[in-house]
Amino acid sequence: MPKPLYQNPTRPPAERPTDLRLEDKLAQAAQLIHNAQALIIAAGAGMGVDSGLPDFRSNNGFWRTYPALAQSRLRFEEAATAGHFIQHPERAWGFYGHRLQKYRTVQPHAGFGLLKAWGEAAPGGYFVYTSNVDGQFQQAGFAAERIYECHGSLHGLQCSGDCEGKIWSAAGFVPDVDEAHCLLRNALPRCPGCGGIARPNVLMFDDGAWNSQRSDQQHERLTRWLETLGPKKNGTVVVVEVGAGRALPAVRAFSQRLQSQGAALIRINLNEANVQERRHIELALGAKEALERMQSYE
Ligand SMILES: NC(=O)c1ccc[n+]([C@@H]2O[C@H](COP(=O)([O-])OP(=O)(O)OC[C@H]3O[C@@H](n4cnc5c(N)ncnc54)[C@H](O)[C@@H]3O)[C@@H](O)[C@H]2O)c1
Ligand SMILES: [Zn+2]
Repeated sequence: MPKPLYQNPTRPPAERPTDLRLEDKLAQAAQLIHNAQALIIAAGAGMGVDSGLPDFRSNNGFWRTYPALAQSRLRFEEAATAGHFIQHPERAWGFYGHRLQKYRTVQPHAGFGLLKAWGEAAPGGYFVYTSNVDGQFQQAGFAAERIYECHGSLHGLQCSGDCEGKIWSAAGFVPDVDEAHCLLRNALPRCPGCGGIARPNVLMFDDGAWNSQRSDQQHERLTRWLETLGPKKNGTVVVVEVGAGRALPAVRAFSQRLQSQGAALIRINLNEANVQERRHIELALGAKEALERMQSYE
């Protein structure tokens, strides 16, 4: 016969203590979203982790995913440079080609759909601000004109020398990667203008050649939309910041700037939520779990 779940109905079982503070914060977060006039989703690499995409700073995720780069002791900051495409293009494309194929095939986790539904329900709508280059918000059905990708997108290509200032879709390029050695096996993609090596249209480290045109246009749309919300946000504009790290704080700086203008900030971050900032609602949970638990209060 199965054991009853609760021996004593007045007390939860000892092995599952109720985290009242966390439950309170989840309920508060859900309430804020329920009343939001407009929703801003500010996302870093931690947003994709529950879909199976690694971030590159937590728990050596980078070297675990790219053991060939670990063997040559190459760090993320060295692999993700514009110079890598000049000095060792097959290896640079081994790294970025593997990522591109992953980003093309991965299924965005359920938290994306929840954020989209909440954003669409807000009278003033939503905007996404992300440093991710994986195109997962578009994949999950978010409107392309409501997304700002501050570091560009891996789904776009440009010339390594940016000879004609053009950005084109990566759709025609299917990288064949030798994963064990992190090397591109098929032909390198080429610039149609000068025949030089094409590279992803993402901002890398030490990158003087990134073509920011597409990203700048997205930023203009974001700025115009923010202006429609007025200078004082009065807690009715809600920022949900998810998986944004502290090492490259572009996303955090944006959400904190909005907060200083009066927006409410909900921070979801598995390892770096706890900055003891009392004005934020900080949820030290994985993205999918946090968003699903917030939904259960709706
Ligand atoms: N998917 C992508 O597009 C991708 C992936 C890795 C890196 N990058 C690039 O590298 C840079 C990385 O900066 P970053 O701050 O985004 O990443 P980061 O790796 O520096 O930080 C990731 C953050 O996510 C948190 N996190 C980890 N797992 C989580 C989970 N399951 N749920 C919620 N939070 C979780 C970590 O605590 C950390 O604070 C960005 O500029 C980006 O362009 C992009
Ligand atoms: Zn060129």
